[in-house]
Amino acid sequence: MGLKEEIEELRARALANIEGAKDSKTLEEVRIEVLGKKGSLTAALRGMKDLPKEERPTIGKITNEVRDAVEAAMERKKKELAAVELEARMAASAVDVTLPGRKMPIGTEHLINAIIDECSDIFAAIGYTIEEGREIETDFYNFTALNAPADHPSRSMQDTFYVLDRSGDVAAVRGESDVLLRTQTSGTQVHVMEEQKPPIYMISPGKVYRRDVADPSHLPQFHQIEGLVVDKGITLGDLEGTLDYFIKAFFGEERTTRFRAHFFPFTEPSLEADVSCGICHGEGCRFCKNTGWVEILGCGMVDPNVFGYVGIDPEVYTGFAFGVGVERLACLRYNVPDLRMLLEGDMRFLRQF
Ligand code: DAH
Repeated sequence: MGLKEEIEELRARALANIEGAKDSKTLEEVRIEVLGKKGSLTAALRGMKDLPKEERPTIGKITNEVRDAVEAAMERKKKELAAVELEARMAASAVDVTLPGRKMPIGTEHLINAIIDECSDIFAAIGYTIEEGREIETDFYNFTALNAPADHPSRSMQDTFYVLDRSGDVAAVRGESDVLLRTQTSGTQVHVMEEQKPPIYMISPGKVYRRDVADPSHLPQFHQIEGLVVDKGITLGDLEGTLDYFIKAFFGEERTTRFRAHFFPFTEPSLEADVSCGICHGEGCRFCKNTGWVEILGCGMVDPNVFGYVGIDPEVYTGFAFGVGVERLACLRYNVPDLRMLLEGDMRFLRQF
């Protein structure tokens, strides 16, 4: 085969390969194969020097034509492939605006917080302020100023967690530290009476801690709502009327209350309040142990000794106090069988309220 035929064949092969290239990478390979330094057309051009002089112009012309044709075909194909590839990239990264958006799960207010809010509303409606207490307390506020001095037996009923000082002092481990996680919200009474002058009408919700192992009816951490009223001429009747109002507002108008004598170091007299059983309505059933009543909170008239610690004159002022367990309110209203469910964060449980 002569050089001329060879070049014609080369053109046909090159154009076919260009046309058949599936993507720009293959096209580039074809370009190098034909037009590159070691390419077939480059070799043909180099072979010109071995030709007889008179053939060179014709062959040269053909070779140039072939090169122009190959280059033009390359250019066209390159543009075509670039467009196809751009199209594919756009399709791959396209956003489907018809798809529904991703759902952000929204939590619900925890039952305990919901009850605290509800009780706060009930008391705010009759003019009470909502005070914030401290979860880390000193022995003075948690016990001493509440009329439970160091050797008082009521202290041992509320064993707690003592906080180590920075040195990690072992005295604290032995319970000799005077900084602790409060066992009751009652210490807030002392803070409020130190900071405010009577008349005082307040409640203070918050967390309390006790050294208890969690079981269906105990938690090492739970919530209380403390209440305190200090004013001129406050009587036991005010205490009973206020708590009856609260219990009816929270549990329903049909519920009744009764008060039993009890003991707390910081109140005199001290009482426990019961609410009529919501299951048998006072008839007696298993839930209320056949008494018709369910225990709900502790309360009493502020002991004059407590007024003594905060410099309020018990000859001028009297007052009452109460403390109610929030988890207990939750269990009574919703029949929660195990207190630990309130801490577990299981959405199936929490979403019910
Ligand atoms: N602090 C008591 C407790 O944790 C509850 C209590 C009882 C609070 C009587 C009071 C009260 O304010 O007057 O068991």
